[in-house]
Amino acid sequence: MDSSIIFLLAIMGLIGLMFVFLFATARRRDAERAADASPSIEERAEAATANLPVPVGSASASGRELERAVALERRGGQVATPDAPPAPVPMPLDEEALGVTRRQVLNRGIVATFALTLTGFGAACVAMLWPSLSGGFGSKIRVGKFDEVMEEIADKKEPFYLGAGRVYISPFPKEGVEKAKAVQAYAAVLEGYDQGVVAIYQKCPHLGCRVPWCKTSQWFECPCHGSQYNRVGEKKGGPAPRGMDRFAATVENGMIVVDTKTVIPGPPIGTNTTGQESEGPHCIGAVSDH
Ligand code: FES
Repeated sequence: MDSSIIFLLAIMGLIGLMFVFLFATARRRDAERAADASPSIEERAEAATANLPVPVGSASASGRELERAVALERRGGQVATPDAPPAPVPMPLDEEALGVTRRQVLNRGIVATFALTLTGFGAACVAMLWPSLSGGFGSKIRVGKFDEVMEEIADKKEPFYLGAGRVYISPFPKEGVEKAKAVQAYAAVLEGYDQGVVAIYQKCPHLGCRVPWCKTSQWFECPCHGSQYNRVGEKKGGPAPRGMDRFAATVENGMIVVDTKTVIPGPPIGTNTTGQESEGPHCIGAVSDH
């Protein structure tokens, strides 16, 4: 299974466990508080004998009992008789008597805040991982139909660029495949060459700048230190230690698929499978190797 999916599942599991923990903690606290507030068996028996209302806080007190208890408390302990009219309850009502204490409200607020924070964190993680789950950089990407991509390259006279994959797609000439096999040991890349396609990583192998395409020279030319590469990313000049790095590319059911999980080192200096020379003025001044 993809490591990003495992990571995502682990985060979801962790958040789920935190929810369960917080919920269980809140329930336990409520239960403890209710137990503390409940009258003992002796208290209840005594209250029944003396025709007293059940003490405030009893989980099983009826509404009438509760009202009587509140009235009793307000009147300083005077016992109300069952037949006496209900005493008016002064406002504000006692939170303890109503069964929801300030502490409970506070605890529930804390739990809700934790839950919201965790949900936000989980959502942020999902958002961060979403591109790689949906075919962004770091995964297999369906670039487009081979015929349409090649047609666009020929029309515009420039490689097909896919920003989501940080990759250029260029046609690989059939006559260069055998030469490439002599210098490139990566089967995943050679399979793409056989099918007429090469997927070139946009990052310069010198110090990592993004290498743009130069329309006039028909080469890739790095603006940082002037490294130059031909149409299939073989080094032609500048300080770069090798040709441009690349990805495994295949044509599956007429669709170009690039696997951007693994960056494969570019061909060594001196590789020239296509014989393509500069076709016009350079965009970046030519820089000698050093
Ligand atoms: S980063 Fe491209 S030549 Fe230095």
